[in-house]
Amino acid sequence: MRQRTFLRLCIGIPVMLFANAAVADGSGQWLNGQDAYSKVCGFCHDQGIGPVIKGVAKNSDLIRLVVRAGNRAMPAFRQSEIDDATLAKITEYIQ
Ligand code: HEC
Repeated sequence: MRQRTFLRLCIGIPVMLFANAAVADGSGQWLNGQDAYSKVCGFCHDQGIGPVIKGVAKNSDLIRLVVRAGNRAMPAFRQSEIDDATLAKITEYIQ
């Protein structure tokens, strides 16, 4: 396993656990797309772990696909973690 991939997983797995915990205790409500983006996606995408996507990723189908299915070091998020309405708001914010 490449070192960088390993590092991404070390960070990614706790983030996924954190995302689950946030939903489980009922506090998994975000104010808007920006809030959800900065608390979930920004953790990687604004810190140089994932590529910059804000203002760069334009295709909403691609964003939805990557978020639901994951892609290599990008974790997949289920409906119970980020629901469709929130994902739509995040997508709008990114675009
Ligand atoms: C654990 C870190 C992490 C989190 C959290 C995360 N991502 Fe990612 N994301 C990545 C990484 C790393 C990649 C690059 C995947 C690769 O090519 O190996 C990526 C790739 C992407 C891509 C494809 C970008 C491109 O140009 O190829 C999109 C779109 C994306 N992420 C959206 C999101 C959204 C929306 C969220 C929040 C719901 C999110 N990501 C949360 C790490 C993360």
